[in-house]
Amino acid sequence: MHLKEKSNQKVRPIDCRHFINGEYRDSFDMKTFENMNPATEEIIGRVSEGGKKEVDEAVKAAKTALKGPWKTFTSSQRSVVLRRIGDLILERKEELAALESMDTGKPYQMALEIDIPRAAYNFHFFADYLTSMGTEAYQQDQQALHYSIRRPVGVVGMINPWNLPLLLLTWKMAPCLAAGNTAVMKPAEQTPMTATVLAEICKEAGVPDGVVNLVHGFGPGSAGAAITEHPDVDAVTFTGETKTGTAIMKAAAPSLKKLSYELGGKNPNIIFADSDLDEVIDTTLKSSFMNQGEVCLCGSRIYVESSVYESFLEKFVARTKELTVGDPFRDETKVGAVISKEHYDRVLGYIQSARDEGGTILAGGSRLQEEDKGYFIMPTIIVGLDKDATCVREEIFGPVVTVIPFETEEEVIEQANDTHYGLGTTIWTNDLRRAHRVAHQIEAGIIWVNTWYLRDLRTPFGGMKQSGIGREGGMHSFEFYSELSNITIKL
Ligand code: NAI
Ligand code: MG
Repeated sequence: MHLKEKSNQKVRPIDCRHFINGEYRDSFDMKTFENMNPATEEIIGRVSEGGKKEVDEAVKAAKTALKGPWKTFTSSQRSVVLRRIGDLILERKEELAALESMDTGKPYQMALEIDIPRAAYNFHFFADYLTSMGTEAYQQDQQALHYSIRRPVGVVGMINPWNLPLLLLTWKMAPCLAAGNTAVMKPAEQTPMTATVLAEICKEAGVPDGVVNLVHGFGPGSAGAAITEHPDVDAVTFTGETKTGTAIMKAAAPSLKKLSYELGGKNPNIIFADSDLDEVIDTTLKSSFMNQGEVCLCGSRIYVESSVYESFLEKFVARTKELTVGDPFRDETKVGAVISKEHYDRVLGYIQSARDEGGTILAGGSRLQEEDKGYFIMPTIIVGLDKDATCVREEIFGPVVTVIPFETEEEVIEQANDTHYGLGTTIWTNDLRRAHRVAHQIEAGIIWVNTWYLRDLRTPFGGMKQSGIGREGGMHSFEFYSELSNITIKL
């Protein structure tokens, strides 16, 4: 492998500054931190480190902008702006994909084919949705007419994760702007680059100054905490770890902010013997190892009906060993580097726990041997663990799956639900009745039958139990990003 290939010759990494009231700004004390490319371990730029002061400025700008020209935009004018943002993202897709890959370590091709087009589509979708939305109205016999109107919630704080930086940020920003709000976003400290470019794109597309603001920084005691504590932030949307969700809820309690959470998952992938094994394996390779397993929807707990357990494993292990791991900028790379040294150590620690708890590693289990730099972990398959093993219970968020055989439908439903998470589940079966029957009993917000990661932006997206609060997508996004007032007219 050639280390020198691990960057994109055409696109240079960028230094990242805050974006407040329509312009890029340094921190008041000029403080910055380093941005590292996890595939090369090189420092690729500097990032302004914001805190309470910068967040105060950004919130002030966002609050003022609520009363400015943005308030007078009709829904079709907002729709035009959203469409332009989506178009500009597509125009700059190679650049954005390269920046995303350098920040996260993910394969460039994946960013180019999935993350960036989906980011653009978030804006295109809500541009259309906005112009076709109706409102609720009820006639109460001859007595009264009731109807409801929607208005913005106000200033929305957006705390974002590092795994799908632009995709998840735009998923929030598009409905937020569609509903007429203003925003203060904080990207994850590990992945500041694409959000920095998005701020400029929003301005170019015609978003008035102060509507979209960006403060870089860390979580606790830094910019993240300052957003969640600020009395003038009306709502916070957060994607990340469940225990961060708890901290944010505490910080948001004094000012009773509206909260929307997409948190962790430990998603079951349930394979019945009557399914098409080749199709199962094609999709299971993705649901296990896509984005290095750093997707909240990854199906990291694989349950296979015992009659096909051996044949599934044989094929799945062979195909996993064929996956190309390494340089994110090579076309054939399927698995890149995990996000940071800290995360790399944590994932390898989980693999060690599996060995200690009696598991057998059938593929992977270590770093990529051919490279001495970069946080590359080989796609790892673990068998022989019991249901209480650490790797079966905890979210690893890396390229690591466990495979466990089952005998009956009842048994696998019970095991699938035996977790405090409830985000996604995939069920593989060609038995129509069983598909419905099992789906109705699985405790998860998103249930796929014979597929994975397929998404229609009109449908509700979110988790049950400790995997989230609220749903996003179509009308469900508007429920969060707008306030309803009901008006009753006596007839
Ligand atoms: P995290 O939840 O700590 O970070 C996500 C975002 O929250 C970052 O922008 C961070 O700066 C911010 N943040 C952290 N603490 C905060 C606080 N007290 N107040 C306000 N903002 C705060 O996640 P982290 O540490 O980066 O990743 C750890 C684990 O979280 C992963 O190993 C994975 O298990 C899980 N995770 C899950 C994601 C998902 O999509 N479900 C996404 C990212 C991480
Ligand atoms: Mg980075």
